[in-house]
Amino acid sequence: MDAYTPTREDHFTFGLWTVGWQAVDPFGGATRAPLDPVESVHRLAELGAYGVTFHDDDLLATESDRDKAIAVFKQALSDTGLVVPMATTNLFSDAVFKDGGLTSNDRDIRRHALRKIRRNVDLAAELGAKTYVVWGGREGAESDGAKDMRAALDRYKEGLDLLAAYVTEKGYGIRFALEPKPNEPRGDIMLPTIGHALAFIGQLERPELFGVNPEVGHEQMAGLNFVHGIAQALWQGKLFHIDLNGQHGPKYDQDLIFGHGDLTSAFFLVDLLENGGYEGPRHFDYKPLRTEDSDDVWVSAAANMRTYLILKEKAKAYRADPDVAEALAASRVPELSVPTLAPGETLDDLLADDFDEPTAAKRGYHFSRLNQLAIEHITGVRG
Ligand code: GCO
Ligand code: MN
Ligand code: MN
Repeated sequence: MDAYTPTREDHFTFGLWTVGWQAVDPFGGATRAPLDPVESVHRLAELGAYGVTFHDDDLLATESDRDKAIAVFKQALSDTGLVVPMATTNLFSDAVFKDGGLTSNDRDIRRHALRKIRRNVDLAAELGAKTYVVWGGREGAESDGAKDMRAALDRYKEGLDLLAAYVTEKGYGIRFALEPKPNEPRGDIMLPTIGHALAFIGQLERPELFGVNPEVGHEQMAGLNFVHGIAQALWQGKLFHIDLNGQHGPKYDQDLIFGHGDLTSAFFLVDLLENGGYEGPRHFDYKPLRTEDSDDVWVSAAANMRTYLILKEKAKAYRADPDVAEALAASRVPELSVPTLAPGETLDDLLADDFDEPTAAKRGYHFSRLNQLAIEHITGVRG
């Protein structure tokens, strides 16, 4: 036990599919045996997690009878006190979804996808989940002629509008979180970034029931700044959930342990989540490396939470450091929060400004010093 040992109050959650990943990749089969969801619940509880999340099919990892799988899962939850804040649907593994679920070219498959989601939404509500993630891994295409993208957007909207009406009618109190990803498994996936998803939500019948579930690695695969994306989602009141993990820039989806990719970005992300008003679970969507054995899986699960707590402490020390406060002021960071016009001022009033453009253009922002202070906090030289 030390300061970085997680407790329930930290609200750390894990997908059953994370620790349960058997490490099948496009070039090789499983390197680990299937994991019983009941064991995952118990092991995660022992490590200090708060909850678990699941795809409908995850519950069937070692028990093929759905009713029995649900019963033993519920028992494990009640034995450990773990909760289920989020659930989701697997619309990507089964061969029937090879051209998508809600946007498959085949109408009967779209109807099948809706039935599959509906059934798991009922279970999610029964287990008390308040967020339902929609990750359209197979909603996409490899060639532009294969998918009428405007029709696909119509069908995506149709499906989501129906689901929003369904949870409203049932009084489930569930909201949906769309998870963007640029590619993999499809060559191009629909709603590839946080920005695309936020714009799409504005076109839905009940936009208030939809937000985003951004994943660190997914934005970074697209070369985008994850912290900026999260800031915009928060600014729009749309950060319903988050998938924390690590990624080394634009390449295949690595799903590394949180902080094991871009550490500086992870530091500023934790700083933003802790100070930016995000109140949802800190959810890890990572994959234990294919090289790891069944004990390493739990070492890797613990590492996610420990890294988060270390960065949380570092962010707190960074914010409390008088040198940082001074450097922020010198960089005029707080000045950005001052509205550009004073109350009552108009654009006409700007004409009266005595602005010395050559002097303003010469001013430095001293960002190098500010960033070095962050690096010194992250590396433990300060704080
Ligand atoms: C990925 C995705 C998935 C989804 C999850 C929810 O890494 O490609 O993040 O893990 O988050 O399957 O449907
Ligand atoms: Mn991923
Ligand atoms: Mn994810």
